[in-house]
Amino acid sequence: MKKVYIETMGCQMNKSDTERMLGMLSHFGYEETKEPKQADLLMINTCSIRQLSEDKAFSAIGTWGKWKKDALAAGENLKNRTNIKIGFCGCVAQQKANEIFKRAPYVDFVLGTHKIYALPEIIKKINNDERVCECTETNATEDNLAKEYNIERVKGVNAWIPITEGCNNFCTYCIVPYTRGRERSRLPEIIIKEAQDALNAGFKEITLLGQNVDSYGKDLEDGTYRLAQLLKDLNKLEGKFRIRFVTSYPTDITDELIQTAVELDKVCEYFHIPMQSGSSAVLKAMNRRYDRETYAKIVEKVRKMVPDVTITSDFIAGFPGETEEQFTETLTAIDEFELDYSNVAAYSPREKTVAAKWVDKYIPEDIKDIRFQRLNDKVKENCLKSNLKYVGRDMEVLVESFYEHKGKMINSGKTRNFKTVHIPCEKDLTGEFVNVKISGAKTWYLKGEII
Ligand code: SAH
Ligand code: SF4
Ligand code: F3S
Repeated sequence: MKKVYIETMGCQMNKSDTERMLGMLSHFGYEETKEPKQADLLMINTCSIRQLSEDKAFSAIGTWGKWKKDALAAGENLKNRTNIKIGFCGCVAQQKANEIFKRAPYVDFVLGTHKIYALPEIIKKINNDERVCECTETNATEDNLAKEYNIERVKGVNAWIPITEGCNNFCTYCIVPYTRGRERSRLPEIIIKEAQDALNAGFKEITLLGQNVDSYGKDLEDGTYRLAQLLKDLNKLEGKFRIRFVTSYPTDITDELIQTAVELDKVCEYFHIPMQSGSSAVLKAMNRRYDRETYAKIVEKVRKMVPDVTITSDFIAGFPGETEEQFTETLTAIDEFELDYSNVAAYSPREKTVAAKWVDKYIPEDIKDIRFQRLNDKVKENCLKSNLKYVGRDMEVLVESFYEHKGKMINSGKTRNFKTVHIPCEKDLTGEFVNVKISGAKTWYLKGEII
């Protein structure tokens, strides 16, 4: 067996692609190694959501390029290591294509996000010392090809299953529509099969993935098979397991979807609804299709209909032109809508996007950093507030990991509503559902005692 090492950056979409690529590679005689120095094939699956993520990708492969050069120079002495191959994949690859070779001439292949199923062909070519760039855009999903290969899922309790690829929203700050293309839904039967396979393999949670999961199915044959229907069909699969879905675009969440989520026993009380900014004027500039009031109504409805729901969000600090007052509206939104947790980021200009052209409105780095920090502090404060609500309650936890902390063994897992719970217990309960009484709350987790 040859060995492959894949470094995965970015979101779950990339992690899911990596699992698919490992599946294909195992078919062609490659096994995964966690040790890059032992690999015959080194691959990086890149993210370009912010400039920093893109820069990280290039600095990581610089070291690999050096290894390759040294191995070639050492020739016979290193025998099997004279033929290291390097692949550059993912969102930066899709966006930059052939340019990658200029910047990193030691790269053997560039593979974008649209054609990951071209990997077997690519491997054949690079083993014949060809150089390959496969970054053409497709308007189709690759479901037919997906059927041919296994997925080498990262061991754990949660299986991620993409249901849509791409995005049509073109928020003015975001590069995803350029790196992942137009929105396309995967076929229900393929998704259900992948879920069943994951359950057969022992996974206890299925998370459906998409940039905008609520638009699932719009582009399928008759357009009537939507997320709610998919959830119903997945809920019918046998056994005890949980279902989640991310990410929801605020205005696309339908009453039917919320109602379905309430009615189905396996679908969890968790909605990730990125708001991005608390200011209606900034939201308009971002090309988000809602204002503060509309977002407020959606959150209120979800909270009313779904008892104990956790609502999380994403926010950007320092979007071009954001005033101090508008930034403060983001802080008050987190409080007012009692957002349980939020991912936050400082605005990073991205090539091709509309907002990147508003150079004269860029917020100075130092101010952006301070806003980012203030946003983080607000998130922390609200997270603790949210966690404190659950002290004294009985909750069901799905254990995800078992480790030692300060001389004690801890089982760590999630409640249905996505709260992390640490349970002191000598026995490894990974993969089990346990009922606990919440005995304490910290900023990032709850403490639980088995009952
Ligand atoms: N489809 C999801 C978001 C996917 S990208 C949605 O619409 O909400 C994940 C997050 O990255 C976004 O929610 C946004 O907060 C952040 N992000 C995207 N582009 C960014 C940029 N240029 N600078 C900083 N953060 C960005
Ligand atoms: Fe990016 Fe907006 Fe699409 Fe989300 S909805 S992926 S933020 S363009
Ligand atoms: Fe994900 Fe980063 Fe691409 S967030 S879709 S890996 S740009």
